[in-house]
Amino acid sequence: MPGFELFGAEERKHVNDVLETGIMMRYGFDGPRKGIWKAKELEQAMCTKLGCQYTQLVSSGTAALTTAMSALGIGYGDEVIMPAFTFVASFEAVLSVGAVPVLADVDDTLTLNPEAVRKVITPKTKCVMPVHMCGSMSDMEALLQICKEHNLLLLEDACQSFGATYKGKYLGTIGDAGTFSFDYVKTITCAEGGAVVTNREDVYINSDGYSDHGHDHKGVDRGADLHPFIGYNYRISELHAAVGLAQIGRLEEFLSKQRTNHAQLKAILSQVPEVSFRRVPDPAGDSCTFLCWFLPTAEITKAVVAELKAQNILPGNFYWFDNNWHYIRKWDHLKEVKTLNALHPDLKAAIQQQANKDFSVSDAIMSRCICTLISLLWTEQQVKEKGEKIVSAIKKVLAHQSISA
Ligand SMILES: Cc1ncc(COP(=O)(O)O)c(C=O)c1O
Repeated sequence: MPGFELFGAEERKHVNDVLETGIMMRYGFDGPRKGIWKAKELEQAMCTKLGCQYTQLVSSGTAALTTAMSALGIGYGDEVIMPAFTFVASFEAVLSVGAVPVLADVDDTLTLNPEAVRKVITPKTKCVMPVHMCGSMSDMEALLQICKEHNLLLLEDACQSFGATYKGKYLGTIGDAGTFSFDYVKTITCAEGGAVVTNREDVYINSDGYSDHGHDHKGVDRGADLHPFIGYNYRISELHAAVGLAQIGRLEEFLSKQRTNHAQLKAILSQVPEVSFRRVPDPAGDSCTFLCWFLPTAEITKAVVAELKAQNILPGNFYWFDNNWHYIRKWDHLKEVKTLNALHPDLKAAIQQQANKDFSVSDAIMSRCICTLISLLWTEQQVKEKGEKIVSAIKKVLAHQSISA
């Protein structure tokens, strides 16, 4: 997901615009900033690009999730349904607003399985939060239908999928709100940053205030702003927004390189009949940050991972099943509710229940899956060499398996 791979003159120009005025805060200082409003400009550019009404930039994707949940009124007593395969930030954000993360199985899209969502809906469910993992998307039609039937909010964690679309609509703009991360390893980067996007005016106004101590931002004098509710500081700086402004201008270039390299690598891996690929609900909308592929069994997959490691080509190939950040299996700190501060006993008990849940359906999918990160810098020759090395590692393992069978 590497916008940072192509980083240069445009980024420097926008950062220098800010350094020349010395105004690094996104609000206020109207005179000395001499018309330089990088955060506002990036928000406008995002609305134009994504075709949504409102964008609120914040300091990270995690902050965007917390802000969106607060803006949607999610809090104590509420349950948020989220997938067992995501990034720890998704459940951190649910906890940060005092709600309960309810984990549900993923399917072969590597995102929320709509049928699994139906099974965990309770009278306390307030929101369904699909996470569009690894550049591709959830089955949004099915999830929208469920939310409609049960009158639930739909919050899209699109942190990993900026620029991807589903049936012509940008991910993040389909539900009540969506979030993006612009941290250092995302499709485009601000170094650190994030955004809430929405078509709901109330959600935007809440996000705008919540991410800046509850300020109503109605005048030009910050000291005279009113505070209709309590907020926090999740502001983005002008320097970070400046980087993002340069990067969004290059989004199509990034996506096009990703799609080309992804297609070439997929064609090479397709030569192995035992390899199958992640289901993408709308293939035309895949941002192609990763190529995710399956092998027939967990045993074969583990052997292929070991072979890739032995051949020194594992970096860039992710076996999420064994990863500490992305999959429920290794989230012991969540299961054991290891917080620094005391939690409400109801919340603690509800989280502990997650520890005993059966995720064997997700295990059966994740244990057979390897995702290969797509680089913007690869040449055609490099993709060929990389693909051929992976294919030879797979074939070696398969040959060994058939001999020992
Ligand atoms: C799915 C998902 N959600 C949220 C986040 C959090 O974004 P950030 O690192 O900007 O806080 C990430 C970051 O990797 C992510 O992958």
